[in-house]
Amino acid sequence: MVVYLIGAGPGDPDLITLKAVKILKKADVVIYDRLANEEILAYATDAELIYVGKKAGEHYKSQDEINQILLEQGKKHNVVVRLKGGDPFVFGRGGEEMLALINEGINVEFIPGVTSAIGVPTSVGLPVTHRGVATSFTIVTGHEDPTKKEKQVKWDYTADTIIILMGVGRLKDNVKEIMKYRDSETPVCVIENGTLPNERVVISNLGDITKKKINTPALVIIGNVVKVYKKALK
Ligand SMILES: C[S@@+](CC[C@H](N)C(=O)[O-])C[C@H]1O[C@@H](n2cnc3c(N)ncnc32)[C@H](O)[C@@H]1O
Repeated sequence: MVVYLIGAGPGDPDLITLKAVKILKKADVVIYDRLANEEILAYATDAELIYVGKKAGEHYKSQDEINQILLEQGKKHNVVVRLKGGDPFVFGRGGEEMLALINEGINVEFIPGVTSAIGVPTSVGLPVTHRGVATSFTIVTGHEDPTKKEKQVKWDYTADTIIILMGVGRLKDNVKEIMKYRDSETPVCVIENGTLPNERVVISNLGDITKKKINTPALVIIGNVVKVYKKALK
């Protein structure tokens, strides 16, 4: 009996790994959420499908409820898949699910996914590092848990490129903070629905980005690598 924590990739169903497809084909049950592209579920021909993601206006499962479902299914079946968008350990709460399972003596295996944090910029031709331009990047949440006693996100990052996930809702506040450390002319690229047919790319700078209309899910990339991307567009 094994629970596989599997990354589904950023959106395009072809960006899942072969290893993940092999496991999905023999899954007894697949527990999936909103960001995992549902076309991927077609590989799980013999599996029961359990949706635990968010639906507008409806109650959705808390992390504790999801952990409970994983424990129940993990004790019942031989091959349980927990399918998550992107990579399960990049802002996916995969670590919490892993620990809940291990604490109950359930075997867990891991299949990485293409994280949107890097996969989405790469898919449009935006390099997150570039010789002479960017030697480092930071991947950070734009939506830090407000119940935390002390903030961990301080926006004074020294990495050349900042990649913000979950960055739309609080973009105004976060950009205000970032501009304490970076110039308003610093290039910004926002990619909505990356790798999907409704993908949209917005290029701007720190001073102007909050004037643009941005839909979720979106990735915010800040730094001079955006200039490299612009050059490649010409
Ligand atoms: C809860 S996090 C999960 C990240 C996921 N585990 C990963 O590795 O990509 C969700 C955030 O990922 C980003 N995201 C996921 N899929 C995306 C996509 N196709 N295009 C743009 N951003 C995406 C957005 O910032 C979104 O708010």
